[in-house]
Amino acid sequence: MTPYAGIRQSLTITDLQSMKQSGEKISCLTAYDASFSALLDAIGIDVLLVGDSLGMVIQGHHSTLPVTVNDMVYHSRSVAQARKRAFVIADLPFASYASPKQALQTAARLMQEGMVQMIKLEGARSEVIACLVDQGIPVCAHLGLLPQSVNRSGGYKVQGRDAGQAEAILADAHQIQAAGAGLLVLECVPAQLAAEIASRLRIPVIGIGAGAACDGQVLVLYDMLNISTGIRPRFSKNFMAGAESIADAVQRYHQAVKSMQFPAQEHSY
Ligand code: KIV
Repeated sequence: MTPYAGIRQSLTITDLQSMKQSGEKISCLTAYDASFSALLDAIGIDVLLVGDSLGMVIQGHHSTLPVTVNDMVYHSRSVAQARKRAFVIADLPFASYASPKQALQTAARLMQEGMVQMIKLEGARSEVIACLVDQGIPVCAHLGLLPQSVNRSGGYKVQGRDAGQAEAILADAHQIQAAGAGLLVLECVPAQLAAEIASRLRIPVIGIGAGAACDGQVLVLYDMLNISTGIRPRFSKNFMAGAESIADAVQRYHQAVKSMQFPAQEHSY
């Protein structure tokens, strides 16, 4: 008997890749604490993303930029400890992965102290991705709208609307896959572009505001529960409308993703 016999495994990156191959949609929500982690996990949400969106929905900032590595470690650990089945990903926060060396230090903290299974980073950072993957750290890349670069891009806008921009995003997607990324989050891009990227890449593509053809969907939990302050983005949906409880709303989201009823055209660009 191996020392691993009897260890109950959560989902792995291989499971997510098999889901892409079999055509089963991947359901993903953000989570920031143990209670929501356990609730989402019990309903069967496949992936919990400890997003740096916590800077906005938990800490009340106007962007994700003030979030620190310590914040991410704290919330990641709370989420990771409370789930049984779900795959857990955490964001590398703003300016914590400027070089491969710095990225490795940050990612190691999130894996060791935060106990997550994969880290996510924004942009086509091939050198950083290759270094992390080489050290055994699975990487989820994030392309399209990059919230950490909002000051450079001038706002939260749909990306890839013109042909040149669309080609650049497609090229970046191929580049991050070649560098070893195991997953891609695509945010706020036209549905047609996202469909092309998802069909061309081997790795699963999780969309947020990227249409129904992605291999999975993610939403910010507090947006879909309708408790975020401010305007809910067009690509999100209030799943509390008509639901009996928070658990019911999450269940409805999970079913809608699996049956491809969410996102509808009205949530896409
Ligand atoms: O931080 C976050 O919640 C995210 C999602 C918007 C994908 O990155």
